[in-house]
Amino acid sequence: EGYSYGMVGLGVMGRNLLYNIADHGFSIAGFDLDEEKIKELQNGATSGMKVKGTGSLEDFVSVLETPRKIILMVPAGKPVDAVLESITPLLSKGDIVIDAGNSYFEDTNRRIADLASKNLHFMGMGVSGGEKGARTGPSIMPGGDLEAFTQLKPMLEAISAKVNDEACTAYMGKGSAGNYVKMVHNGIEYAIMQLISEAYDLLKRGANLNNDQLYEVFKEWNNGEMNSFLIEITRDIFQQKDSLTDNYLVDQILDMAGAKGTGKWTSEQAMEIGVSIPTIDIAVTSRILSAYKDERIQASQLYSEKEIVSPEDIDLFIKEVGDALFLATLISYAQGLALLVKASEEYNFEIPLKDVVKIWRGGCIIRSVLLEKFYSAYTQDPNLSNILLDQDIALLVKSKIKGLRKIAGYATTNGISSLGLQTALGYFDAYTTESLPVNLIQAQRDYFGAHTYQRIDREGVFHTSWQSANN
Ligand code: 6PG
Repeated sequence: EGYSYGMVGLGVMGRNLLYNIADHGFSIAGFDLDEEKIKELQNGATSGMKVKGTGSLEDFVSVLETPRKIILMVPAGKPVDAVLESITPLLSKGDIVIDAGNSYFEDTNRRIADLASKNLHFMGMGVSGGEKGARTGPSIMPGGDLEAFTQLKPMLEAISAKVNDEACTAYMGKGSAGNYVKMVHNGIEYAIMQLISEAYDLLKRGANLNNDQLYEVFKEWNNGEMNSFLIEITRDIFQQKDSLTDNYLVDQILDMAGAKGTGKWTSEQAMEIGVSIPTIDIAVTSRILSAYKDERIQASQLYSEKEIVSPEDIDLFIKEVGDALFLATLISYAQGLALLVKASEEYNFEIPLKDVVKIWRGGCIIRSVLLEKFYSAYTQDPNLSNILLDQDIALLVKSKIKGLRKIAGYATTNGISSLGLQTALGYFDAYTTESLPVNLIQAQRDYFGAHTYQRIDREGVFHTSWQSANN
């Protein structure tokens, strides 16, 4: 008797997603070249699951019911192409291959076309929630082939996270929209993590809070309107003791951040299609800057004059840092969502923004109660070009802006780098300014390069022979 689903790649993510699928009554076979992983899969399966591990692609393909539904959970890039190359000759017309990794959307476009030429369906599907999410309920962002999606939908709805009984999965749009939405999710993830690290720095070096106090602050934040996955895990991080020393683990971790590329892709894309997402950009570049550890040590000795003056009213300061973090986070979502709006036009994705924020409410790394407010906003106006233009969001922003200004000012005065907070505020100030000073930039461009300019008082394109005062 055949298996309803197949999973290629039995690393932690693949295995956990496979168990999740099996938990919901779907039979599933797994394939991996590594025999150890197949053993692990069999050993970890519980009695009710209909699960089978195989080390041969031929066996794997032959035990699957047709049309086959094969999920790939392998590293993005070459490994995906390698799997496709070896598996597609074994498949038959109408089979569906679903790439659940963090693949680049252009790669997905290429693979869709390639498999279509072989009468096979290929879908890009973002999956967020880390190892635990994969096992117990991730947020799932499928896109592309509607026919294939319809076949998968009942399973995806069963295994995804739930918020108010609603599944955290929905059709994200045509082509490689699923990968694109997941990429932007990760860009926003980078921004929020950067902002949280800055809030931590301000509380630690500005207000001299220790880890126990930081734990209390994040606990309180997480109990209110700032409730989110990233705030919650940050709270817990401050309590974790090290197993090798008597210290807290967070204090033993080297301050150099890694990155696997999805944040960088988000920034590259935004530049490519002309969308301003400075808080995401700064989060990407801040991780890069963190790697200059040796130079930072040298420079900190060379410029050691920094003196941090603690705020007078610590409780007020903590509240303002909370407001600043909350608002800058909101602005980061606004930037990412605005990128999705533009990308949807640019690539004909037809991304339903309302569904994006709906399925980000649970399961994924950037889940937060704030998304509930975005969901209401898009329910009222599905074509909102920027979340900052919504009336209710505006009220919320206005209630926090003072805190962001004060904290950005404090950080600047005291030499505590807070690039994320500063750019969120700078973006907000530019976005909400009717007349920007770029009339001057246009004048300069026309002056030295005859690049022309438009006028505020009449139609057309103009060029002036600018006069030098020295003439
Ligand atoms: C998720 C995460 C996941 C992965 C990131 C990490 O949504 O579950 O985003 O996909 O942990 O890609 O990215 P970096 O290694 O680049 O920080």
